[in-house]
Amino acid sequence: MDQASLQTLLADLPLGSLRYFATVGSTNDLAKCWAEAGAPDLALVAADEQTAGRGRLNRRWITPPGSALAFSLILKDTGEADVLRYTALGALAVCDALNAASPPVLLAQIKWPNDVIATQRKLAGVLAEAQWQGEKLTAVILGIGINVASPSVPPDEQLNYPATCVEAVLESPVDRWELLHAVLERLLFWREGLGTPEFLMAWGARLAFQGEWVQVSFEGQPPLEGQVLGLTADGRLRLRDRQGELQELHGGELNVRPLSGVKTLE
Ligand code: BTN
Repeated sequence: MDQASLQTLLADLPLGSLRYFATVGSTNDLAKCWAEAGAPDLALVAADEQTAGRGRLNRRWITPPGSALAFSLILKDTGEADVLRYTALGALAVCDALNAASPPVLLAQIKWPNDVIATQRKLAGVLAEAQWQGEKLTAVILGIGINVASPSVPPDEQLNYPATCVEAVLESPVDRWELLHAVLERLLFWREGLGTPEFLMAWGARLAFQGEWVQVSFEGQPPLEGQVLGLTADGRLRLRDRQGELQELHGGELNVRPLSGVKTLE
């Protein structure tokens, strides 16, 4: 891939601007700098390889060359800094693109708040970061990483949740850049309806582990066990805990895993 070819491939989408790199540290970091330097709304940074990719909770995100998608979309005029909602926007777009590509083989779901899973393994992650100038929100950087081919899947022992890739789940080769196009198309679609009842319904419909018992870990605190009930109107995760109390969890330091199906978990 190169800048001109990607530009041609994405020409039918109303992107603000586009920068493609063979290798970068992190597309989110580049997008942040570009946003500060005046990038337009819907400017896109995409890379074949990342050498310092970042995930939530300061985790590393590996993007080896030729096997994954790593990109960051700059969203301006966002109005509010609801990072959880932007995270959902990314995850929902990935789910839609994957599910449309492969009915009924691949059922991609959202492992709240920011992972996309299929066959009980993670195949994509979303890192939404708000950018501020003093008190003013200037942009949201929506970073998405998708494992497409097997070299992008780290060994289980390096992970706190098992991973897979799109090609393994589909059992067929996938054109990364066509997939990027499909994800961006769904991102642009849902961005228009961000916060609408339809958006919330689609988000809820893609939520993994509905009705299942899960453990939620908070950094520096004991884990909470609860049954997944769904989402609140603002996208918090609704659980019923062991005492029968309702809990509504906001994003941040959470890590959801099912208590059943232990074999697939570390
Ligand atoms: C996670 O699962 O914790 C989120 C992973 C997000 C990775 C993507 S890859 C593109 C963008 N650049 C980064 O450094 N991170 C995001």
